[in-house]
Amino acid sequence: MFDAHDFSVPEEWAKRAHADNDKYLEMYQHSINDPEGFWGEHGKRVDWIKPYSQVKDVSYDAKDLHIKWFHDGTLNVSANCLDRHLEKRGDQVAIIWEGDEPTDDKSVTYRELHAEVCKFANVMKSRGIKKGDRVTIYMPMIVEAAVAMLACARIGAVHSVVFGGFSPDALAGRIQDCESNAVITADEGVRGAKKIPLKANTDKALESCPDCTTCFVIKRTGGDIGWVEGRDLWYHEEMAKASADCPPEEMSAEDPLFILYTSGSTGKPKGVLHTSGGYLVYASMTHQYVFDYHDGDIYWCTADVGWITGHSYILYGPLANGATTLMFEGVPNYPDSSRFWQVCDKHQVNIFYTAPTAIRALMREGNGPVEKTSRKSLRLLGTVGEPINPEAWMWYHEVVGDTRCPIVDTWWQTETGGILITPLPGATKLKPGSATRPFFGVKPMMVDHDGKELDGACEGNLCIADSWPGQMRSVYGDHERFIQTYFSTYPGRYFTGDGAKRDADGYYWITGRVDDVLNVSGHRMGTAEVESALVHHDAVSEAAVVGYPHDIKGQGIYVYVTLTKGFEPSDDLRKELVQWVRKEIGPIASPDLLQWAPGLPKTRSGKIMRRILRKIAENDYANLGDTSTLADPSVVDDLIENRMNR
Ligand code: PRX
Repeated sequence: MFDAHDFSVPEEWAKRAHADNDKYLEMYQHSINDPEGFWGEHGKRVDWIKPYSQVKDVSYDAKDLHIKWFHDGTLNVSANCLDRHLEKRGDQVAIIWEGDEPTDDKSVTYRELHAEVCKFANVMKSRGIKKGDRVTIYMPMIVEAAVAMLACARIGAVHSVVFGGFSPDALAGRIQDCESNAVITADEGVRGAKKIPLKANTDKALESCPDCTTCFVIKRTGGDIGWVEGRDLWYHEEMAKASADCPPEEMSAEDPLFILYTSGSTGKPKGVLHTSGGYLVYASMTHQYVFDYHDGDIYWCTADVGWITGHSYILYGPLANGATTLMFEGVPNYPDSSRFWQVCDKHQVNIFYTAPTAIRALMREGNGPVEKTSRKSLRLLGTVGEPINPEAWMWYHEVVGDTRCPIVDTWWQTETGGILITPLPGATKLKPGSATRPFFGVKPMMVDHDGKELDGACEGNLCIADSWPGQMRSVYGDHERFIQTYFSTYPGRYFTGDGAKRDADGYYWITGRVDDVLNVSGHRMGTAEVESALVHHDAVSEAAVVGYPHDIKGQGIYVYVTLTKGFEPSDDLRKELVQWVRKEIGPIASPDLLQWAPGLPKTRSGKIMRRILRKIAENDYANLGDTSTLADPSVVDDLIENRMNR
């Protein structure tokens, strides 16, 4: 274990920080003892049209489950991210855009962004899009993605951003689920010099979405695309006709702001619903404190806007705080694996936030690509998305940060809207591999299998005992599923789905999912989704998917396939099935290892025993535990004999 004292920040650094340890403890106690008072005060950090008089109205009781924050207040999120900054920082850069090619970049000021957003809001209105309508955004990492999101917020439309790496089928499922009547896309995306056919994918998706009658297309590459007259509209043509005057819609604090689909352990991805007031308060406050954000800082989060990290920490949190936020279109290893650090030097980035998988991949390339850059501007480093192993943490700290920059290992989820467990830089002593302590207002609770609360140092399942303003409010269109998924395992508590350890200092060490959710390169995926894609293929009679430890990705996808009678295993079929999953879900769901399984280990009642499959995939088959309850124990021998991960 590393000594916590090794990583304290220099005195000058600490002096400037928003909180020291005493202040953290004092604010934390206040937030827990008097949530109404604490959030009543901090809710004022956003501009309200009509101020709230109610702060918190929450019940975690399944019979009357509701979560409301500031609910009699009204506001507009886009006005908070744009209009209120115009007077003081209209000419300050809001977004630095760094293209896929190092020669391609631009800066957009708050005034320019405001005008673009107002225009596009008017464009959407002219197509009949109004408050409460759902709009799907399927875009590359270009400024127009931010414009589209903020324009939705301006008119009160609910955006659903779908990551550009998802397949046409996955896109169609999400458009149908939230009954979007408009989609915003680009002709093509570009990542690592490769083109991504976004419009062609959208065309394919829309074949099964007859109610989606508008498709706005941004010209990114000018590549050849199909066109449906009456449905498709060029963004630039519509913008040229639009007025830049669009008053923001007055929204209730609890009006929906966005839906974001995420994977669970069962069924198809669910639409996580976030609302306006509490979300913005929480995103902006965490952005300020966790990243120790100060006016004038250049802040870069490398996530994609298709994920929650992009929503809260590229867009809403930073812009609500009047920050300069960097949006990167490309990938860490193009043109070479020095790119991240070159971009840091080029734009003088002070705060850098990325995923452990990227750090591990870059670490593998050695120190050379890092050391040929200066990185002097960097002051703070952050990670998110999966546990970071102490070796990668140390490399990040020593090589990337020259031992000068604290690292914030931030634990949170799509559902939580913002960061829940994290160090506060300058206040929290760091331990490599630990997300450390709860943010203000967050009450973690460790429970055992039966839901009994565990005290002190322990290992168990991580719940949160009470609400915080950024919490999701429902599963879109299925409130019952919301209650079932998060509040039924341990009644009266929000169950995160994660396992954790708590040490004697009260620090949390997240150990990973305890349900059937995989975390592959920081991307979340349900094993059920991959299985259901596989069984759609004629050759597959049954499939079981588990995760196994992977050096770079954190977890790899291991697939067991039982073939339909008449099909024989072959390398060609293996390749075909891998391709099939990519087509059905997207490249992020590509199976890493695929094993032919003449039979799967099942209980007598027919339930697949994943514990056994996991052990075999982990190449740890010596301790399979009790297999006597299996209907046919001999299938296990065959699986061990032919395992793929030796
Ligand atoms: O298992 C945890 C892991 O990512 C899950 C949430 O995934 P998603 O909703 O896609 O959001 C990712 C970005 C917020 C969690 O249940 N996770 C996230 N951050 C960490 C983490 N695991 C360990 N340490 C983290 N810092």
